[in-house]
Formats: sequence, C-alpha cells, structure tokens
Amino acid sequence: MTDDNRSPRPRPATGTTVLLAGATGVFGRHAARALTAAGHRVLALGRGAGNDVRADLDDRDALLRAVDGRHADVVVHAATALRKPPARHADMAATNTLRTRGTRHLLDAAREVGARRFIAESMVFGYGYGDFGDRPRTEAGTPFGPPGTSAALERTLAGLRTKEELTLTADGIEGIALRFGLFYGPGGTEALLELLRRRALPVTPDRGLVLPWVELGDAAAALALAVDHGVPGQAYNIADQDPLGFGAHVRLTAEVFGLPRPLTLPRWAMRPLGYVHAVLGTNLRVDTALAAEELGWRPAFRSAREGLAAMARQAAPGQSRSAATTSTAAAQEENRQ
Ligand SMILES: NC(=O)c1ccc[n+]([C@@H]2O[C@H](COP(=O)([O-])OP(=O)(O)OC[C@H]3O[C@@H](n4cnc5c(N)ncnc54)[C@H](OP(=O)(O)O)[C@@H]3O)[C@@H](O)[C@H]2O)c1
Repeated sequence: MTDDNRSPRPRPATGTTVLLAGATGVFGRHAARALTAAGHRVLALGRGAGNDVRADLDDRDALLRAVDGRHADVVVHAATALRKPPARHADMAATNTLRTRGTRHLLDAAREVGARRFIAESMVFGYGYGDFGDRPRTEAGTPFGPPGTSAALERTLAGLRTKEELTLTADGIEGIALRFGLFYGPGGTEALLELLRRRALPVTPDRGLVLPWVELGDAAAALALAVDHGVPGQAYNIADQDPLGFGAHVRLTAEVFGLPRPLTLPRWAMRPLGYVHAVLGTNLRVDTALAAEELGWRPAFRSAREGLAAMARQAAPGQSRSAATTSTAAAQEENRQ
C-alpha cells in the first residue's frame, strides 16, 4: 500500500462503481471515503435516508426492485445490526440473519447489477471463540467457522461461516472476504469514551488473553485495495501488529483520553452476558502477511496505542462523529509524516 491509499483527497473516478451495503454504518462511512479517495464511485445501499439505493437486505424482492436498472462493478456487504453493542447471544440474531439471508439476497442483487466482484466484511471471530494459544491463525491453515461450542455460539459462527462460504464460492462472481479484527477509531471509539466518562464500562482481567484490533481507517483502506487487488476466492486477515486484551484496550483508551480508569470485575461476573463472556474468554492472534503481500496493505497504525493517540490529538472527546472522522484523516496524514 502506498501512502496515497490513506489520502483523504478524492482521486478522479476510475469508472469502477461500488454498491456498498452498510455505507451509513460506522465502518461503512470510512469505507465510502476510502473507496472515493481511491477513485471509485460509491452507491450507498441501506434502509435509511442518505442511501442512494434504499432497501432492506432481508427483503429479496424489494432489494431486487430497488437495484433494477442500476449498474455496479463491485458489491460490498458491510451491513451489520450492531449499533447496540452485542452483550447477550440474542443481540447477534439480526446480524446473523444479515450474514446468511442478507448475503444470499445481496449476491442475487449483485448479479442483477452486473457486478464482477463481491466483497464481504467478515470478522476474525469466525476462527472461533476460545483460547487459540500463541500461534497466529493464517487464512489457509485454519478452518473458518468451526462448529460452535454451544448452540448460541454456533448460530453466530454459522452466520460468519455462511457469509464467507456464499461469497467465496459464488457462481460467476469473484468473491473476496476481509476478516477484520475488532474496530476502534473515529466513529467507533466515541461510544467507549462515553461509557468510560460515565464509569459505566467495567473490565475483566485479561490474564494473558489477546484479541486482534484494527483502526477503522486502516480497515477501510484494506477494502479499497481489495477492489482492485484482491484475489478471487481469497479471504484476508486484516488486523494491526499488536493484539491486545479487551481490558487492556479499554484501559488504554481511558489513559490516552485522560478518562477515569475503569473498574475491574472478575470474568465470572460477565457470565449472564453470554456473548460478552465468550469474547472475553477468547485468545486469538491472526497473521496478516497475505494481506500485505497480495493487497499491498500496510496499516498506518501498527498498534491501538498509536491509533488512539492520533485520534486523541486530533479529535477532542465529545466531538461529533463526522467531525471526528474528518479530523482523523488529518491524524493519519500526520502519522505518516
Ligand atoms: N469488526 C468489528 O469489530 C465490527 C464489525 C462491525 C461493526 N462493529 C461495531 O458495531 C458498532 C455499530 O456499527 P454500525 O453503526 O456500522 O452498525 P449498524 O448500526 O448495525 O449499521 C450498519 C450498516 O448496515 C446497514 N444495515 C443494517 N441493517 C440493514 C438491513 N436490514 N438492510 C440493509 N442495510 C442494513 C445500516 O444502514 P440502514 O440502517 O440505513 O439500513 C448501516 O449502514 C460500531 O461500534 C462498530 O465499530 C464492529
């Protein structure tokens, strides 16, 4: 990746039109900006105002009607239903449906608009929930979407597994999956800041467990690169170089933004929050060499410490989401210099 891949200055359009489902979401807004900066034309797809194509991914007929007469070269599935952070397994249900039925419907829409390529936003938790030790997971060396260790986890893993399988084996369309680490950064971290300010976000001891993280702008840069450089049928791990425990990430965020240190609770106290409990018991590292080699992806921020520090320098706590997103472009510029 060259520095220009993170440039906020739009380049002249190359003629590639990208239909982006989830364009108004936290990741989607970064994605739309990165795609536009890379010279692509973005058509936003979603239910709400502010989308160019308004449709619900759950309603196949309405979706096909909405894209009727449209053309796109590439379709991206970055729609989730995670605005309310998932605490219990039931909180994943709508996102699981978007990953299964939503992917099927969006693939049908992709064929309808004549797309040659379909890119799925995927997630490192597709490797599973649990302790995977110190060896980083590689795309080829590790099964994706192993059976869940409980019925509830299986529903979420089935969602991740199905979204990738449908994408990577789609007939007549080049499928690519991006397995993102946990997002942080402008537009995402503000929700954490608010909870920290209210002292409403306890953490649990990490006890050596770590998770992969990626700054939202870096994640979006990987998507823009995948439009032109992703190898059909390939999944890519997209995470920074510094896996960090969930508790450590939250404490780091508090430290960088000068907020009160969160309270620490034992992990068993989180057991009633089934999904959170599974996440907090996960120890996962991923290898990102393939994304570097085939996409040319080089994250601007090698660690959350770097990325959060850049965000804190540029976006004072309490700033609006869009203002923070804009100022992060400046932070990324600054980080490169
Ligand atoms: N890797 C990760 O760590 C990861 C991945 C994803 C999200 N998250 C986190 O989850 C939080 C919420 O993210 P978010 O705001 O992007 O999520 P969101 O509120 O779930 O919205 C995501 C996008 O999906 C679209 N969408 C949702 N349901 C749809 C449907 N049925 N049909 C068509 N489009 C649909 C929404 O547009 P409409 O509402 O207009 O339909 C929106 O553009 C953030 O903190 C984010 O960082 C983390």
